[in-house]
Amino acid sequence: MHLVTNAVLILALASRLVAGIVNIPLFRMNPEHQFASLSTRLRLPFLNPYKGKAEVNITNYEDVEFYGPITIGTPGQVFNVIFDTTSADFWIPSVNCPQTNMPCQSHRKYISAASKTFRHVGTMFNITYKTGNVHGYQSKDTVTVSGLSVKKQVFGEAMLQSDIFLETVADGILGMGFSSLSQMEEPTVFDNMLSQRLVRSPVFSFYLSSHKKTADGAGSVLTLGGTNPGLFTGNLTFVAVTFAQFWQFKIDWIEIPDMRESFCLEGCHAIVDSGSSLIVGPQRETDKLNRKLRGSSFNNTDMWTFNCSRVSRMSDVEFIVNGTPLTLTSEEYIIKIDDFCFSAFYGRKTFPVGADPYWVLGTTFMRAYYTVFDKGNNRIGFAKAKH
Ligand SMILES: *[C@@H]1O[C@H](CO)[C@@H](O)[C@H](O)[C@H]1NC(C)=O
Ligand SMILES: *[C@@H]1O[C@H](CO)[C@@H](O)[C@H](O)[C@H]1NC(C)=O
Ligand SMILES: *[C@@H]1O[C@H](CO)[C@@H](O)[C@H](O)[C@H]1NC(C)=O
Ligand SMILES: *[C@@H]1O[C@H](CO)[C@@H](O)[C@H](O)[C@H]1NC(C)=O
Ligand SMILES: *[C@@H]1O[C@H](CO)[C@@H](O)[C@H](O)[C@H]1NC(C)=O
Repeated sequence: MHLVTNAVLILALASRLVAGIVNIPLFRMNPEHQFASLSTRLRLPFLNPYKGKAEVNITNYEDVEFYGPITIGTPGQVFNVIFDTTSADFWIPSVNCPQTNMPCQSHRKYISAASKTFRHVGTMFNITYKTGNVHGYQSKDTVTVSGLSVKKQVFGEAMLQSDIFLETVADGILGMGFSSLSQMEEPTVFDNMLSQRLVRSPVFSFYLSSHKKTADGAGSVLTLGGTNPGLFTGNLTFVAVTFAQFWQFKIDWIEIPDMRESFCLEGCHAIVDSGSSLIVGPQRETDKLNRKLRGSSFNNTDMWTFNCSRVSRMSDVEFIVNGTPLTLTSEEYIIKIDDFCFSAFYGRKTFPVGADPYWVLGTTFMRAYYTVFDKGNNRIGFAKAKH
């Protein structure tokens, strides 16, 4: 009986890990001119003196979801959101959603009539994620994140959400990608923080902690307007953003040093994704990697498992970024659920037409590496997270 319950729980958690919510985002080709016009458009606010820096306490739910609090309106209505680096729209459930939409009914809802600073917009939106979609209308209000109040932020009031959102603890998603990715074609909350001079530098950074190491999933931090040197050790390794839409960059290659095995030898595209858990890559590469690590398929699914008694003796995996090895130990790339040890390396079979294969470095990677998102210099920085 206990075993059956465990199997069901494990499969549920494993499928959540795989599905993510914004996991494996839609990917587009990268015309150079878009990059140029975006950085020109963003230059102006960077010349302004910034007022400050703020920290958001992030909660780690079972290592599968990271979210933090915000308020909307005056007086502030509190919500939890996923600060997602692979999307650029912001939405929250609406109090006007139909009784029949369970994802909406099971989360906190925004009540525009209760806010003195609410402004009507009304334009419809329909955001498509890889695993579902969200439909509703746009509104405008004050949005406050850790004391920084953005005025006149346009966001979505969600009327209909796919069932996948029944599984999120967070109420909504707040995109931290580049505004060019916005399906509503509106500036992100962070871009408005820059243009309203609420933060002193066009940089935000994530420190993600393991839920097993802290009480109640507490201890993770999003810093807006800079970095927090107390949360990482050693130097930051910076790499250029190759296309300012996703936080996209190039990995030189990947290797298992003590086996002299290499992957993605000609370099590969990668994006950093705070909204999904796993490390996703082209399946041919991840299968080879998992096989070399002596994994086996979990009950004929695409998840790979390892014998837990071997984990402490397993090889490191290195991502070479701008010439610097970023190392993941087995303790970091293996996800333990009960007595099972899953590999965080997960294969994707197909990629959108016209897009090169790419890797998605989810929160498993970000827990090991403090990650700095620098819009001023269009670069990403990694340093070993302090734990
Ligand atoms: C393995 O898969 C079968 C068929 O999908 C399922 O009935 C069984 O519960 C699974 N076992 C475990 C341990 O998950
Ligand atoms: C964040 O958490 C720390 C430690 O628990 C606490 O001292 C601080 O007040 C929290 N900050 C906010 C903005 O909630
Ligand atoms: C939103 O877009 C998706 C995908 O294009 C579509 O399946 C869905 O019907 C649309 N929803 C609404 C309400 O327009
Ligand atoms: C960090 O960079 C400085 C200056 O380049 C260098 O002297 C130092 O050795 C580096 N520290 C580490 C831990 O790599
Ligand atoms: C895992 O490894 C241990 C020790 O090497 C062995 O006794 C055990 O049978 C293995 N478990 C499985 C499920 O293969």
